[in-house]
Amino acid sequence: MLLQIKNLKTHYRIKDGMVKAVDGVSISVKEDEVFGLAGESGCGKSTLIRTLMRLIPETAIVQADELIYKKQNLQDLSDREYRDQILWKEISLVPQSAMNSLNPVYRVGNQIMEAIQTHVNIGNRAAMQKAENLFKGVGLQPALTRNYPHEFSGGMRQRAMIAMSLALDPGLIIMDEPTTGLDVLVQERILRELKEIRQKSKASIFLITHDISVIAEMSDRIGIMYAGRIMEQADAIKLFNEPYHPYTLGLKNAFPSIKALDRELISIPGSPPNLIGDIPGCAFAFRCPFSIPQCENERPPDLEIKPNHFVHCIRTEHVEEFRNLAGDKKTWQSSK
Ligand SMILES: Nc1ncnc2c1ncn2[C@@H]1O[C@H](COP(=O)(O)OP(=O)(O)OP(=O)(O)O)[C@@H](O)[C@H]1O
Ligand SMILES: [Mg+2]
Repeated sequence: MLLQIKNLKTHYRIKDGMVKAVDGVSISVKEDEVFGLAGESGCGKSTLIRTLMRLIPETAIVQADELIYKKQNLQDLSDREYRDQILWKEISLVPQSAMNSLNPVYRVGNQIMEAIQTHVNIGNRAAMQKAENLFKGVGLQPALTRNYPHEFSGGMRQRAMIAMSLALDPGLIIMDEPTTGLDVLVQERILRELKEIRQKSKASIFLITHDISVIAEMSDRIGIMYAGRIMEQADAIKLFNEPYHPYTLGLKNAFPSIKALDRELISIPGSPPNLIGDIPGCAFAFRCPFSIPQCENERPPDLEIKPNHFVHCIRTEHVEEFRNLAGDKKTWQSSK
């Protein structure tokens, strides 16, 4: 295992109470894999990784049973040690809205050089050379390192940020919505480049997106997040071919399949619960067509239904019935 997160909670303190943005998340990322985290807007995806990277407000309450990276417990590190030993060198981030993260008054190449030189003791020429190579690796002309961010398109800026995240050969690269907001062709090109990067480097990629088709195309392993919790986690093929959680079944319906292009897409009625306050049972129970009263009262365990396939549901023994019914629009209409 490269990264192991056990029972992580991040609660934001706000005027009206606590926002339980991440509420007991356990996930693990292996070496040399793409882990895809999917979930609707506001379910806590960014909070999860920003907590890992120590980028959340100090007023937030963070608790975890384990945060292990390469056998080291990250909770043992001070902020300074984390910055010196882990940030960028081991775990790097392409933040959400990365295209707006570049400093407008510096040449893009200089920003990458600076990022390299803050961590490694190398001269300007070598650092610039490295920046140019990184640009090539993400499909940008090396000469563009001398340009300013405003001279770049959104897709080019996104690529420059991806280049920067690769600068120190980290073991884990986290990409938060790397293709969101880009047009489809640019999205496709960036995904292709990510695949190439993956082939060339040994790094694992933690890919976050609400776009289930991007996750399906890119990931070896997938976690499905909902209202601050992980509903299901499995190898990508298992998750799509043998889903157990009703929420996964619902998401599958809402997503076009090449195998059945004429299939009607069914969306899940309703919206996610408010994260302020207590959700004692399953967070999806209120929208789940298969929920029973117990689902609303009892928090499901992360059941390991098959080796390395985790399901956050107490009704897994009825999965055959759920799978049969999930493809029928009426099933979802009758849900609460
Ligand atoms: N600094 C903050 N203070 C209070 N609440 C916050 C803060 N940041 C995020 N939240 C809330 O936490 C919840 C999770 O937000 P988060 O940004 O982690 O979700 P997300 O899954 O990344 O969403 P998106 O897909 O829109 O990026 C939301 O309800 C959000 O409003
Ligand atoms: Mg986000």
